[in-house]
Amino acid sequence: MTSNEIPQKQKAWIVVKRGKPKDALVLDADVPVPTELKPGEVLVKVQAAALNPIGYKLMCMLPNFIAKRPLTAESDFAGIVANGNGTKWLDGEAVFGLIPYGLGMKTKQGALTEYTVVPADHLATRPANVTPAQAAGVGIVGLTAWQAVFDYLKMEEGQHLFIYGASTSVGVFAIQIAKAKGIKVTASASERNREFVTSLGADDVSHVDNSAWYFINSQAYLQFVDYTKQDIATYLSQNPPTPKFHGILDAFGLPNASLYANSEKYLAPGGIYASVGPQPHRLGDVPKLLELLFDMVRPTWLGGVKRKFAFISVKVDTEDLNEIQDLLATGKISPRIDSVYKFEDALQAYDRSMTGRATGKIVVKVDPSVD
Ligand SMILES: NC(=O)c1ccc[n+]([C@@H]2O[C@H](COP(=O)([O-])OP(=O)(O)OC[C@H]3O[C@@H](n4cnc5c(N)ncnc54)[C@H](OP(=O)(O)O)[C@@H]3O)[C@@H](O)[C@H]2O)c1
Repeated sequence: MTSNEIPQKQKAWIVVKRGKPKDALVLDADVPVPTELKPGEVLVKVQAAALNPIGYKLMCMLPNFIAKRPLTAESDFAGIVANGNGTKWLDGEAVFGLIPYGLGMKTKQGALTEYTVVPADHLATRPANVTPAQAAGVGIVGLTAWQAVFDYLKMEEGQHLFIYGASTSVGVFAIQIAKAKGIKVTASASERNREFVTSLGADDVSHVDNSAWYFINSQAYLQFVDYTKQDIATYLSQNPPTPKFHGILDAFGLPNASLYANSEKYLAPGGIYASVGPQPHRLGDVPKLLELLFDMVRPTWLGGVKRKFAFISVKVDTEDLNEIQDLLATGKISPRIDSVYKFEDALQAYDRSMTGRATGKIVVKVDPSVD
């Protein structure tokens, strides 16, 4: 792409105030395309962007003086390098990446736009076997899942991981990453998503009983437990694996507080319980959250839980991004898409995200001609 092909003005979804997306977002067709790049910054022509729940949550929660609005919405994207600006990226290269929400508040840059400015080390090459729409949804949840499994839970080949909220996008990546590295997975999701979740790791059905489905291959197995049919903590307390799990990942953010409170029964000593961030999903969840917070701070000599609780906080790490890129290129991770929306229909995409029922990423095509 030559600089004279880059337009001066672009369309972008701008967050102008606090509120629900339909009130907070404006589609502005007159946004200047950035021309001044700092050293280490790259201009990317966005092909597709993907939503994360944190996007609408921050929109609804953060006051303007903290969020520093107006700013471009969202974080995750795939696109083509429009100006590599002397970095390792060449003009025309296909990439995917992310602008973390905190960075976006400083630079005003985001993903729901035609052109965005991003630090060069927040990008990875998009493998040819992954479409722009698929790659758009990798950044935040891919890194979160990778860092959960290896940095927070410190899982190793042959160990056994329990994932609560396996049909979340974080869960979808965590299952595939774990399986690629020879980690056994027991996954919990609703019956509605049983096939979806098991399709991520199942090579062969080897055993079925009343409460769980087992899928085994030579490297790893995936067992499924439905969180809507049984209290997970009760189920796991009555059916602890032998040996116990080496790690538990709450990829949803606040299942019943009992999952952590009872974890000694099914999580090995030294095993870690990591959460994407306990949060009330509805008003009725507040007592659950308080119960969990109490369990987290109560010392063990006062009856506290004898297992470490870790809060996951995703950070951009180029090495992690490249590891994910390798797994994408070899087909060991296959990004799942819930739905795709036209750029002009981004508000419908937010409506879908706010249902909390998406299975896979919600993608907004910025360039309608790409897959
Ligand atoms: N800490 C961090 O750095 C970090 C980074 C990324 C994301 N997150 C957080 O991680 C969470 C997941 O994000 P995501 O983008 O992966 O979510 P997502 O894809 O939007 O999650 C949707 C899925 O959640 C499932 N779900 C809904 N209620 C559930 C429940 N009570 N128990 C278990 N599963 C349930 C739904 O399946 P059913 O309809 O079958 O229930 C649906 O498949 C969000 O809270 C997000 O803010 C945190």
